[in-house]
Amino acid sequence: MSLQADLYTEFDTDPTNITAFIWWLTKKSGLSRNLRVLDMGCGPGRMLMEYARLGWHVTGMEPDPDFYASAKQAAAHHPSITVKHGSFEDLIEEHAYDLITAINDPFAYVLDIPKRREALGRVYRALKPGGLMFLEVKNFLYKLFYDQPIKEEFGKIDHRRIAHVMQQEIDFHNARWICRDEYIVEGENRTVSKTHTLAIITLPELMYFIEQQGFEQIETYPDYGVRDPQPINGRLILISARKPGDSDI
Ligand SMILES: C[S@@+](CC[C@H](N)C(=O)[O-])C[C@H]1O[C@@H](n2cnc3c(N)ncnc32)[C@H](O)[C@@H]1O
Repeated sequence: MSLQADLYTEFDTDPTNITAFIWWLTKKSGLSRNLRVLDMGCGPGRMLMEYARLGWHVTGMEPDPDFYASAKQAAAHHPSITVKHGSFEDLIEEHAYDLITAINDPFAYVLDIPKRREALGRVYRALKPGGLMFLEVKNFLYKLFYDQPIKEEFGKIDHRRIAHVMQQEIDFHNARWICRDEYIVEGENRTVSKTHTLAIITLPELMYFIEQQGFEQIETYPDYGVRDPQPINGRLILISARKPGDSDI
């Protein structure tokens, strides 16, 4: 794994809750077959392993070269996982997947509204009839109200303490959130930094574009612990939507 992927993995949450939720969502939607699943923006690949454990055929797509390399390496011994280098813009398949997920913000990395609309169109086309899309993005309205501009958290890699400092800014004109992530390794004169720019997406806008694309059964969930659709009221926007049609075709 690369240091960037190690750091991401150390500070990201355990995916067990996400997997249990996605499993429940597919059952609730009647998708019980041996599913073909695409995880868009798969990062170092944490969800790929989870989906493979459920017996699904899994494809991961990831544009970042370091994350792509880590995901590919992690999936090397899993015959049911394929990892491709690419983003929403490279999704050109049609009627290929029962489920497409984009967990922990990949959709918000698509910065312009026309590109996000196009991305939803690509997801729609890539789904089989009856297929399911699931997106997780930050709820920026919650974040803007409650978050401090600078946050700090701590973790450990190889027994070394790592401080993770997040400095957040808003590009008010373009409605973008800019976060500078700095990882400071204890006892070393070394920091790793990365700046993320995400589109500030609101739920009404997202639902409008999903509906315009032709999706049905658009449902929201405030977190991964719930087991029925509910209004968004916290940090996350979790949203699922269905391509019309018979999932058994
Ligand atoms: C916070 S990470 C989440 C990774 C992974 N989904 C997970 O849950 O561990 C966001 C990912 O979105 C990817 N990404 C950035 N731009 C993207 C785009 N245009 N299309 C798809 N993924 C993108 C990033 O490279 C990064 O791996």
